[in-house]
Amino acid sequence: MENKPFIFGVATSGDNFTDREKETARLLSNFQHGVNTVLISPRRWGKTSLVQKVCHLAQSDKLKIVYLDIFSCRSDRDFYDAFASAVLKQTSSKWDEWVENAKLFLSRVSPKISLGPDPMSDFSISLEWNPKSDDINEILQLPEKIALKKGCSVVVCIDEFQQIAEFKDSKTFQKRLRTVWQLQKSVSYCLFGSKKHLMNELFEKRSLPFYKFGDAVYLSKISAPDWVEYICGRFESTGKQISKELAEKICQTVDNHSSYVQQLAWLVWIHTKEVATDQHFEDACQDIVDQNTPLFEKQTESLTTYQMNFLRAIINGVHKEFTTQDVLQKYQLGSSANVSIVKRALIKKELIETEKQKVVIPDPVMIIWLKRKFER
Ligand SMILES: Nc1ncnc2c1ncn2[C@@H]1O[C@H](COP(=O)(O)OP(=O)(O)OP(=O)(O)O)[C@@H](O)[C@H]1O
Ligand SMILES: [Mg+2]
Repeated sequence: MENKPFIFGVATSGDNFTDREKETARLLSNFQHGVNTVLISPRRWGKTSLVQKVCHLAQSDKLKIVYLDIFSCRSDRDFYDAFASAVLKQTSSKWDEWVENAKLFLSRVSPKISLGPDPMSDFSISLEWNPKSDDINEILQLPEKIALKKGCSVVVCIDEFQQIAEFKDSKTFQKRLRTVWQLQKSVSYCLFGSKKHLMNELFEKRSLPFYKFGDAVYLSKISAPDWVEYICGRFESTGKQISKELAEKICQTVDNHSSYVQQLAWLVWIHTKEVATDQHFEDACQDIVDQNTPLFEKQTESLTTYQMNFLRAIINGVHKEFTTQDVLQKYQLGSSANVSIVKRALIKKELIETEKQKVVIPDPVMIIWLKRKFER
């Protein structure tokens, strides 16, 4: 298959990865020096791509990387299973060593390992354990034990970490992790995830166990000049052309949002035969709104009138002081008490965010879609 010049929707790498030099260096240094890292950004800005890149660079005989995505974990039990499997599998490429380590270090939890026809790629582990604290500690200590045995360091990267906030009795669970993890000498952790408000809460609330757990990295957007160079370069390498001005327009339209820049550039590229024109750009803008419309409809169909009115106020440029008489009346937001309820609900639904005291809609294509909707 021919290489696609633009990638969106999945983590990206190689020629489709641009910029992020400072963040790459900072994470790499944390990994190499055993510093815990917490990486936070809004959705689809590039956390997974960045961490995967750093994992690739950091991996060596002396430094083993364990990477797990806990998006589908619904309980602490799911988490422990996923954690143990990932640690066993990714600290060695030999399956007999997995079995050995499992027997050696997970003696209390009687691991059952089943091997498929190709044990190298086909192997699963299930643990039979009681939710007693000795059993759990054994699982959480697994990377430290393996690191000591092999005389290496280990970095455990956990993607979609915000998921743990949804577990039953999450605070006890968090306390348990932190208590064990902070004493480990040869293992450090890189915890990252989206749903910014949840991640913020996990790591910024003094009352929660992960408060000040590690170096907090807030991923920023990739800058317009970097994007422009990338877009022009990708057009060129596929025998097409786009002007700097048009590439800038792509970035502006989607506010430099990583995934959307790639998606819009891709749509312009498809329309373009040789040289991209304004018309190609206009058509691509229509496409990107159309392609996302079903999702936006789904996200907004259950909103109350007050909630829609609140979004309308933001679209019209109101970002703070929603409770002045003028704003309350103009946008029919009810009472000031009502405004706080509406705001909280929209934050929970991830349709709005607060940024430096201002309330914003983080999805730039949703903004375009809402503008068109309210104009009608
Ligand atoms: N460094 C980069 N260079 C170019 N494009 C990037 C980069 N990082 C991210 N992107 C674009 O953003 C998209 C989303 O990236 P990624 O999945 O890494 O983000 P994420 O923050 O992990 O998203 P999610 O919040 O869904 O977990 C990619 O498919 C790609 O289009
Ligand atoms: Mg991700």
